[in-house]
Amino acid sequence: MGLLKGLRDDVYRRPLITALERLEIGAGWSCVDVGAGGGDVSIALAEVVGRSGRIYAVDSDPASRDEVARAAAAYSQVFAITQSGEDLSLPEKVDLAFCRFLLLHVADPERVLTKMMQAVRPSGWVVAQEPITSAGRIDGSPLSMPEALHADIGAILPALIKKVGLELVDAWAEAPAWAGPGPVTNYLTSLTGVDTRDDAVVLPPLITVIGKRN
Ligand SMILES: C[S@@+](CC[C@H](N)C(=O)[O-])C[C@H]1O[C@@H](n2cnc3c(N)ncnc32)[C@H](O)[C@@H]1O
Repeated sequence: MGLLKGLRDDVYRRPLITALERLEIGAGWSCVDVGAGGGDVSIALAEVVGRSGRIYAVDSDPASRDEVARAAAAYSQVFAITQSGEDLSLPEKVDLAFCRFLLLHVADPERVLTKMMQAVRPSGWVVAQEPITSAGRIDGSPLSMPEALHADIGAILPALIKKVGLELVDAWAEAPAWAGPGPVTNYLTSLTGVDTRDDAVVLPPLITVIGKRN
């Protein structure tokens, strides 16, 4: 599936691969990645859908849009757009609306999920991957992210999917874990500034939900 190439050093690549395999996504799909950030997911999706597909990489922050545009310069199927998830509006209905680490930061996650649902064609897919931050651990102690509006939104994600009117097709949790130097501890240090030395680290588990528009 070419996913690892697109995902570079993304420590959450395993949950993403699990989700995309579950969908059986393939060449020619059209997708939107809402809150695309640095573009890891958008590029992974671009690898899978190929040049016959289309990826809309949407972010409310113009600097992130520019970052995605730079990272995806080699992929003509990626369109980087400055837009908020609350106002999501695309030139076509897509096969898949995806977000990761987005809903924890937005004021009204239900509204953004509703816009994502409206962005997909009938029988299309909405996939969200959001954390339960407090279920992460450093040396056994819970993690926190005070700056996030809904740091534990993963815990209610399956219910939210149903609330906006999507069929809940699948849902599960996955978390990278490690001890000592490596990508997992580097990622945590970049997020929190905490040097974990050889402590055991469990990053916030991501809840993946797969919803279908009927
Ligand atoms: C933590 S980053 C996640 C990046 C990417 N999804 C990933 O998993 O690597 C969150 C991104 O969401 C964007 N964002 C925050 N609120 C948003 C909103 N209301 N609509 C669209 N993007 C938003 C931020 O600018 C940021 O780039």
